[in-house]
Amino acid sequence: MSKIHRIAPSILSADFTRLGDEVKRVIAAGADWIHFDVMDNHYVPNLTFGPMICSALKPLAVTADGHPVPVDVHLMVQPVDALAQAFAQAGADFISFHPDASLHAHRSVQAIKAAGCKAGLVFNPALPLDVLDWLIEDIDLILIMSVNPGFGGQAFIESALRKIAQARRRIDACGRDIRLEVDGGIKPDNIARAAAAGADTFVAGSAIFGQPDYKAVVDAMRAALKG
Ligand code: DX5
Ligand code: ZN
Repeated sequence: MSKIHRIAPSILSADFTRLGDEVKRVIAAGADWIHFDVMDNHYVPNLTFGPMICSALKPLAVTADGHPVPVDVHLMVQPVDALAQAFAQAGADFISFHPDASLHAHRSVQAIKAAGCKAGLVFNPALPLDVLDWLIEDIDLILIMSVNPGFGGQAFIESALRKIAQARRRIDACGRDIRLEVDGGIKPDNIARAAAAGADTFVAGSAIFGQPDYKAVVDAMRAALKG
């Protein structure tokens, strides 16, 4: 089981007038993944960016010494499958979707994997983990929402910690290498609690992009995770 922590800045809170520079800056600041929030104004009440933006940014998802930085696509869309295919072609490394947004979640997972990507399932604050009974053997990532999806800058929902702990128990029982990611309201002052509950991958949008010094925030998060 990988316990190495990953910080995944969400470019939802970046400056859209210079998105490429923002991706470069946040990678220079120590981002492990780039989290890419896709909203369709249907499954969620907001509209963001599509696969063309993803493929434009993909070449920038690399560290100064040439290591690729995974592009972590979080689909908040319904239906799922056609856009998932488009994001696979646009260079996504991870593609996660909300199982309640897909009529056939098992088929969606298989299609993402067949397209060469790692597949994730996302759980809204009020959604139980039951679908994992049938899908945990097939996925690479579980994403626990600690806000309702649709907007950056919301307050962390505490009950997500219980769900993270439940998901961690399921991952440990299954024995596969599955990332456990948390998304929403993550900041230097609560990241350690999410880690203690069992999360290993941390999305943060406004906490990072809302500050002038991205590296200071990423470093503060890593320090909190160490402590
Ligand atoms: C919300 C998105 C999040 C969002 C998190 O629907 O899935 O990834 O960017 O933003 P913060 O970190 O500001 O809560
Ligand atoms: Zn997200």
